[in-house]
Order: sequence, then C-alpha cells, then structure tokens
Amino acid sequence: YKTHPLDIPTNKNLDSFEQLPDTYDWIQPDSFPSSLTDPNVSLSDSVPLIDLSDLPNAPHLIGNALKTWGVFQVINHGVPISLLNSMESFTNALFDLPSPHKLKAARTPDGVAGYGLPRISTFFPKRMWSEGFTIVGSPLEHFQKLWPDEYSKYCDLTEEYSREMGSLCGRLIWLALGELGITQEDVNWAGSNGDFKTSTNAVIQLNSYPICPDPDRAMGLGAHTDSSLLTILYQNNSRGLQVLREGNRWVMVEPVNGALVVQVGDLLHILTNGLYLSSVHQAVVNQTQKRISIAYFFGPSEGVEISPINKLVTPTRPLLYPTITWTEYLRKKAKLFNNTLSSIRLCA
Ligand code: SIN
Ligand code: FE2
Repeated sequence: YKTHPLDIPTNKNLDSFEQLPDTYDWIQPDSFPSSLTDPNVSLSDSVPLIDLSDLPNAPHLIGNALKTWGVFQVINHGVPISLLNSMESFTNALFDLPSPHKLKAARTPDGVAGYGLPRISTFFPKRMWSEGFTIVGSPLEHFQKLWPDEYSKYCDLTEEYSREMGSLCGRLIWLALGELGITQEDVNWAGSNGDFKTSTNAVIQLNSYPICPDPDRAMGLGAHTDSSLLTILYQNNSRGLQVLREGNRWVMVEPVNGALVVQVGDLLHILTNGLYLSSVHQAVVNQTQKRISIAYFFGPSEGVEISPINKLVTPTRPLLYPTITWTEYLRKKAKLFNNTLSSIRLCA
C-alpha cells in the first residue's frame, strides 16, 4: 500500500507499512453516529438542490434550507463552469506534484498559508487521510516555489476564483438575510450599498483525499462546523462529504455536475441568533477514487465584530451569543476543541 503522502518526507519508516498505520485509526466521538463507509448513511434524505435562476422561488428555498439543514447545493449560480473545471485541474496538478516538491511550499508551524495537513487537524486526536493547501491573501510566494515558470497563470486563476466566489457569497448572504426580514441597514458593518468588499476576508482551502487502502479505519476530515460566515465548496465527482442531519444520521452530499455546496458557518449562525444552522459535516475516504474539494471561506475582516442582529433578538428568542470577531472566535474554538472533541460549536 501507499502510505500517506505527507509521511514520506517526515517519517521514512512509513514506506514499509503494509497496512494503515494505527495513527490513522479513527474513533468516532460518542456524540456522533458512526459512519465511515457505513452503507446505512441515510438514503431517504437528500441535501436540498436549489436552482438560483428559479425566481421568485429561490430565496424562499434558500431560507428554508438554511433553517432546517444549514446547507444546500446550488446550480445556475453564475460562476462559469469552465472556471470550476480549471480550478479542479489546478488542484489536481498541485497535489500530484511529488511530495518533496510540495513541501517547498509547506505551511510553517505558526503559519496559516501553504501546503500541509488539513488546517483544522489539531482539532482531532488522530491523523486524517488527507492533505491540504491553504491560500490567504496572495499565493504568489508559494506558487513561485511550486511552479517557477507558470506561477502567474495560477495566481490569475485563484484570483478570478476568489472574485467570483466573493460575489456569489455576497449575493447569497443578502438573499438569506432577506428571508428573515433583514435589510442592509440592519447590518452596520456590511459597508455602503451592502457591499461586503471592505468588510470581509476570504480563505481558500484546497483538499485532497488520496485513495485509502482501508477506508473503514480512516477519516478524511473529522466532524466539525465551519467558523466562517458562509462556505462555498466545490467537490469533484467523488463522494465523501457527509452532513449530520437532526443530530442522528449522516447524509452524503451527492456530487452534482457543476453544483456548489453552500454551508452556513458559525458566524452566520451567530449573526442570525441561531436561526440559520451551521451544519456539522465530515469527509470520508474511499478505496477506488481520489477525491478533491475546494472550500472558499467567507468571513468578516479583522476587527469586524459579529453579534446577533437586533431584529432577531425577541422576548421569545433571547440573545444566544456574545459579540465576537473572527479571530477571537477561531482562538476560542481551538481552545475548546483541544483534542477532546467535547464541543463543536461555541455557545454563549
Ligand atoms: C471541509 O469541510 O472543509 C471540506 C469537506 C470536504 O472535503 O468535502
Ligand atoms: Fe468544513
């Protein structure tokens, strides 16, 4: 069997493993139903699929999906399919580079950007069967190391992707908030014209889940909620993403050609005083097909304080969460996790 690509340079002994090393043996925390490749993943439910060009129905469908699931898939979203295909090819090209080459762009121990283990891997007691690449701000420096001759075309590509995803996020957030009766003047940090341009930041996370020799014993990415306002995920045609439904069963997010997966993050959950659910999700691995995903995390800029919107705090629905910035939130969440998996979402 092949070992995890990240093990090769860091631990030469792993080259001789014939089975999955026990450092990967996944134990599902008691608070979640177990399902790795378990076929009893719910078949009767499926994540809502919404056609964004279906007016006037789309906003209402989005509102419902976010109240009951916290996640939906969207088609006719306006992002060119050719751009999604190019990002997929680029992501494959990156992870297909030989390990020593990828490590030239390795994330530093106290850094966020670059190549390495999944960014949230410190939340979990076991290694994940996945590798990741994180883009924050300009990827220029890293791309120059990876592709000395071709870096600029990849920089242009990720910039275009960011731009498209950013405007889709803005559009979706206003549609979603509109369904709760929220207008631009209710969100004082959104900027003039409700434009999020100066008040938001984004992180792009590329994920690769190599073929796994023993998928029942390993996890691609353990159960978590996203800390963003909104996350838009593109996945290739390989299954793996599961969302927790009503706290008791995992539902596979079936790949749909050209669709994007939209997830409520913890900060939108807080902003809506808990009305929109930030979904608990995980990624499982498989034995036959390599999987990639591209997550775009949309969140408030440094210093922007998020608190439940006044209109959504009522006598029957009291204030659930304190005021917090993205940075503070991430710090508190990491502390809370502390390898115990005791809590997934930070509460008041
Ligand atoms: C993530 O939750 O960040 C990635 C999930 C996936 O790869 O589908
Ligand atoms: Fe996630």
